[in-house]
Amino acid sequence: MPNPRRIRPVEAAHIAALIELGTETGLSHWAAHDYLSEIKAKNAIMLRLEADANHTVGFIVGRLITAADAVGIDAEIYNIAVSPTHQRRGNGQLLFDAFFERCREAGARRIWLEVRVSNEKAIAFYTHNSFVIQHLRKGLYHSPPEDGYLMSRTL
Ligand SMILES: CC(C)(COP(=O)(O)OP(=O)(O)OC[C@H]1O[C@@H](n2cnc3c(N)ncnc32)[C@H](O)[C@@H]1OP(=O)(O)O)[C@@H](O)C(=O)NCCC(=O)NCCS
Repeated sequence: MPNPRRIRPVEAAHIAALIELGTETGLSHWAAHDYLSEIKAKNAIMLRLEADANHTVGFIVGRLITAADAVGIDAEIYNIAVSPTHQRRGNGQLLFDAFFERCREAGARRIWLEVRVSNEKAIAFYTHNSFVIQHLRKGLYHSPPEDGYLMSRTL
């Protein structure tokens, strides 16, 4: 049986689905205009995972950035979420693999992200994908207040 899951670009028409997924999965709130300005950003990488009937069951949002050495290219991940009913089935991995592929094509050498220290699921997922904690950032998050880890991996 063919696999019905597909990686697709995010367009303005999908923003409501992204906000709903973000709410369901407890992501830090992004308003519609946040997603819209990211869609318009030249260096953004925004992918969604589509299941049957064009239903969006996951997404990832990140950007290519200038590396710390001001010469190379790095990438940052701002958000990744998979619908609770679709988690632990390799869907986050499909999104990550597609994101990494875009980063490699662009010549990025390192990927960065931040995560709440209490978010054990996400930290396990990132560690499984070779991300390593670089720093503890005190008071990084608000609503509720919490420290965050800065994590990165090379490509
Ligand atoms: C993090 C998240 C995107 C992972 O998506 P997912 O589709 O469940 O991940 P996958 O099924 O592709 O997992 C790949 C591997 O990562 C690890 N992993 C993923 N979720 C895990 C969990 N809850 N506990 C332990 N390991 C986990 C496992 O090694 C897993 O492989 P396995 O299932 O064969 O053991 C998902 O849990 C999510 O949407 N969380 C809520 C939103 C969030 O916190 N986003 C991050 C904000 S910084």
